[in-house]
Amino acid sequence: MKPVFVLLVSTAWTLTGAQYYYQGLMDYLENRLLAMEDRMQLWHEQSHRYHTEQLDFKKLTAEAMDGLRSQHSMMFKDIEGAALRVDRVERDMDYVETQTSPRACVNKADKVLEQGAWSLQESRGEEEDEEEWEEVHSRVSDCVEIISGIRSVKILKRVGSPKGMWTRDPRSSKVYVFNGTSGDNIYQFNSVQNFSRSPDVISSRQIRLPSDWRGPGSTVYDGYLYYIQQDDDTDMQVVKYDLLSGSVTDAAMFPVESHATVYNLNPETVADLAADDEGLWLLYATSDSEPNIHLAKMDRVSLDIEQIWDTRCPRENAEAAFVVCGTVYVVYNTRLASRSRIQCLFDVNDMVVSEEAPLIYFPRRYGAHASLKYNPEEKQLYAWDDGYQIIYRLTMKRKLLV
Ligand SMILES: *[C@@H]1O[C@H](CO)[C@@H](O)[C@H](O)[C@H]1NC(C)=O
Ligand SMILES: *[C@@H]1O[C@H](CO)[C@@H](O)[C@H](O)[C@H]1NC(C)=O
Repeated sequence: MKPVFVLLVSTAWTLTGAQYYYQGLMDYLENRLLAMEDRMQLWHEQSHRYHTEQLDFKKLTAEAMDGLRSQHSMMFKDIEGAALRVDRVERDMDYVETQTSPRACVNKADKVLEQGAWSLQESRGEEEDEEEWEEVHSRVSDCVEIISGIRSVKILKRVGSPKGMWTRDPRSSKVYVFNGTSGDNIYQFNSVQNFSRSPDVISSRQIRLPSDWRGPGSTVYDGYLYYIQQDDDTDMQVVKYDLLSGSVTDAAMFPVESHATVYNLNPETVADLAADDEGLWLLYATSDSEPNIHLAKMDRVSLDIEQIWDTRCPRENAEAAFVVCGTVYVVYNTRLASRSRIQCLFDVNDMVVSEEAPLIYFPRRYGAHASLKYNPEEKQLYAWDDGYQIIYRLTMKRKLLV
């Protein structure tokens, strides 16, 4: 009986010990689980907070973006509005200019200047009698058109330096490019299209002249190039060059004081030639002290001077000029180039009256015209503006016959 009791007691003791042990383990595990639950709760809360914060941030950035976008479009609208206003102001100014500016000034042809001044004429020993002079004077120009406006502008390309000249022979349709303000070479293209399609001057025919041309005042007519030659210490010469045979056919001295330039805003233009059906026109300055542009009409074939005039159009602020049907149109600008305008006319036949003289503004441009060359066949101007080659198409009307 006794060993059984001992065994029972000992088993009970052992049982109680194991119970304690398991209880402790359970408590421990429970605590750990609780702690882990707590931490998980914390993580959960944190991640939730992060998520909300992220959402808030997203909302904020979206709002900010929206704000920026609307500000941008507002700014854009403002800029558009300002551009419109500037445009309107410019148009208003154009209108005011045309309303308030004086008409282009027309000067009547003077009597032929004293022939005595022309030693050249005398040296040629050609005695003209009075009747012949009278006859020449009464019919200098046969065509009766006056410019009424600028119809369109075409910018062809940009070749060469800011100053230069280009023109088209009205007879052969060939195009000639004079790069810069002097030199002994020019470029010839077969047509305006050939010129505008050529990437450079490489596909052109390069013509080397026997002497330097001086200033963008040359002209080409019927296969002949007429250019101004002037060395530092010599008189000015008009040279006639046969483009086909490549030789100088004639040259004539022009007795002017050297270094006087015809247009005050383009001092490189020592004189300006223009050729048409009626002959060769030369715009020039007699001397630095003489304020007006002078005009000479020459025989295209012999280079004889037929008649000369004081146009009474000032050289001051003149940019360029050209001759249409015996009328000189002088284009003026300001030193800081703005809008160029035809503001002085001189008609060798006295046929343009002040009332019909148009004050014509050229469209806005890049810089200033270095040259303007009129083509009588196409009734358009070949302009060189800051290296751009531009064509202005003109509208014409008949001169009022008085
Ligand atoms: C035009 O002349 C300028 C200098 O005056 C020169 O640098 C340029 O290469 C010339 N361009 C052409 C096409 O001859
Ligand atoms: C221009 O004409 C020349 C000579 O005929 C020719 O070689 C060249 O290919 C032409 N260029 C273009 C662009 O038409």
